[in-house]
Amino acid sequence: MNATTAVTVRVPAKVNLQLAVGPARDDGYHGLVNVFHAVSLFDEVTVSAAPDLRPGTAALSVDGDRPDHVARVPLDDGNLAARAAALLARETPTATGVRIHLSKAIPVAGGMAGGSADAAAALVACNTLWGGGVSRTRLLELAADLGSDVPFPLLGRTAVGTGRGERLAPVPVRGTFHWVFALAEGGLSTAEVFAEYDRLRPDAPQPRLDEELVAALAAGDALRLGAALGNDLQRAALSLRPGLGAVLDVGRDAGALGAIVSGSGPTCAFLVGSPDRARELAAALRDSKECADAVIAHGPVPGATVV
Ligand code: C5P
Repeated sequence: MNATTAVTVRVPAKVNLQLAVGPARDDGYHGLVNVFHAVSLFDEVTVSAAPDLRPGTAALSVDGDRPDHVARVPLDDGNLAARAAALLARETPTATGVRIHLSKAIPVAGGMAGGSADAAAALVACNTLWGGGVSRTRLLELAADLGSDVPFPLLGRTAVGTGRGERLAPVPVRGTFHWVFALAEGGLSTAEVFAEYDRLRPDAPQPRLDEELVAALAAGDALRLGAALGNDLQRAALSLRPGLGAVLDVGRDAGALGAIVSGSGPTCAFLVGSPDRARELAAALRDSKECADAVIAHGPVPGATVV
């Protein structure tokens, strides 16, 4: 039998349907109620054994259609995908050194958890490459150690995250929702957006799940979902990047059912009623010149999958 020499994992981006942010905790993180929704923008992460590298160490490479986004991906051992390989190697006796290739379609530093998705994919890919010894439950724990948004792409679909966002429970969804994402020039730092949130909202209340949003998802009702979308970080993202207000206005004026900043931004997310409406809205966004580009996706989709 040939040993597996390369494993590719496909992993989705997320948009936050509700992002309710509480006051800063003693550890610096914020208590969240975070409704994650996996959408059909996928990165592919390919891991191959590199006998020339020490076990648990990684050499990274990256490609993608958007040179400005590819240029923002760190290729040192601070990359979350490299840290994922190192963390998993600590509990895998068969671990090797690895080459990790990231093929990016998820916006980089865009508020769609692309780096977290790559880390989740690296966990699954390395676990498969090294013999699959670590349980799914343990992978979810390792993911939470890597970052608040890393467990969700292991699950995919739609889920609510509590704590700092890493404690997940699936949320039932009927049917498929159609989305358009407006990409921005340049990224935003999640930590800086949270810091701006603290400055603007020193008196934030404890976050609570929006039951109307949950009901809209269960009913598969895009009109209700559009009205219920909410992101407490939006004001902070707009404060740091005022031009996003015009992007949201273009989408609203073109008939989006809901328009929000995705996570910590600067990507903006628009919910529409059909694939045709998505194509029209994407064209309107591109024509407006208020954003760098617009891409279409649907959700929910499954989490990290070996291909
Ligand atoms: O968990 P992660 O490393 O992805 O978080 C990145 C940054 O986002 C944190 O350093 C923190 O500043 C902020 N954050 C937060 N509260 C959370 C999640 C993230 O303040 N629940």
